[in-house]
Amino acid sequence: MRNMSKEPNLKDSDCTGDRMSAGVNDWKELYSGEPEAEEEFVIPEGPLLFYNELVIDHFTNPRNVGEMDDADGYALIGDPSCGDQMKLWIKIREGRIAEIKFKSFGCPGAIATSSMCTVMAAGKTVEEAKQLTDDDIIAELEGIPEQKQHCSLLGVNALQEALRDYERKQGGGDSR
Ligand code: FES
Repeated sequence: MRNMSKEPNLKDSDCTGDRMSAGVNDWKELYSGEPEAEEEFVIPEGPLLFYNELVIDHFTNPRNVGEMDDADGYALIGDPSCGDQMKLWIKIREGRIAEIKFKSFGCPGAIATSSMCTVMAAGKTVEEAKQLTDDDIIAELEGIPEQKQHCSLLGVNALQEALRDYERKQGGGDSR
């Protein structure tokens, strides 16, 4: 939260009829005082979110970002509580995730956990990837702030839906 104490050099009498009638109504006069000293840093109220370095690394340098034209499985997932969205593509070769790509319109927590989700899923068999949970991803990231833990669902839910899409295309799996 920014300190809003930096206000124009506005005196109580500046907007009175006397002042206006005297012709002193140039807005520039409001800012004509001496510049104020450095803005004071104000500690924001409420909880702060501390991301560890690994999470920050996955947020600032997310792995496996992109799209795929010839995917074997695809998912578009949204989080209704915040409006964030996630697209994820997988390519399966010999029963394993040979390639995985994602694009996320999401918060730092969603991007970092989705990035880690793709790293963990790559190379896994379809059955192994189905077992991946949001808790696994958070553990691999060595934790994320409690308020952001729901964000880890975006990536893992997209992965599970892409796996279901793959199985549907193979003529198996559930039909959701
Ligand atoms: S706040 Fe929406 S996924 Fe993080």
